[in-house]
Amino acid sequence: MDGNGRWAKQRQRPRTVGHRAGARAVNLCIEFCLNEGIETLTLFAFSSENWQRPKDEVGALLTLFLRALEREVDELHRRGVRLRFIGERERFPDVMRQRMSEAEQQTRANTTLNLCIAAGYGGRNDITQAMRKLAAQVAAGNLSADAITPSHINEALCLADLPDPDLFIRTGGDQRISNFLLWQLAYTELWFTPVLWPDIDASLLQQALADFAARERRFGLTSEQIAQGNHT
Ligand code: FPP
Repeated sequence: MDGNGRWAKQRQRPRTVGHRAGARAVNLCIEFCLNEGIETLTLFAFSSENWQRPKDEVGALLTLFLRALEREVDELHRRGVRLRFIGERERFPDVMRQRMSEAEQQTRANTTLNLCIAAGYGGRNDITQAMRKLAAQVAAGNLSADAITPSHINEALCLADLPDPDLFIRTGGDQRISNFLLWQLAYTELWFTPVLWPDIDASLLQQALADFAARERRFGLTSEQIAQGNHT
């Protein structure tokens, strides 16, 4: 969700105004997914590197997250959304950690949309914590190092129970992954747009879906193999 700061700058407003507009675009995006029957949406709200932003901006973002949690969770629950948060929670204030856990508990049986909010998240940290878990199993004698497969790594990552993303959308014009779901994006289709996050609308998201639908996903195979349905 990139471009909040530039959106505000274009209007000679403080960056936090851009983040507030970004929060409105989050609602639009969730609404779009619910209408389209999309089963999982993962939003990169705050990266492990974003803690290094100016203190005022970090504080404003935390307040925005907290208010959004207080305001939206009941309605999301009513609509069948299961909420979860990925990333390192230790650095978040107690009140936020508590709200995150409560929202996860409240919505845990919902199945309409899996909504994952990446907050304090970094793909490298995710892989690192997975490696630590596996190393501990090896040290305890419960797993042989030679027996480790990609499935073991997958299972130790934070979104283990969800399928790999089909489509990655980045707004704001930069064409990079910036430490998002590094492992899980191996075969994800990447879609970039110069549109700034607060300016997204349903027609832009439709365009991303249409482009995605027109792509041939080969997963390392040939077109002929894919046409014959020879892939698992
Ligand atoms: C990137 O834009 C955006 C962020 C670091 C924050 C994302 C937060 C929101 C969209 C609002 C709230 C979200 C939730 C889930 C309630 P940027 O600041 O890097 O923009 P720039 O590249 O133009 O400076």
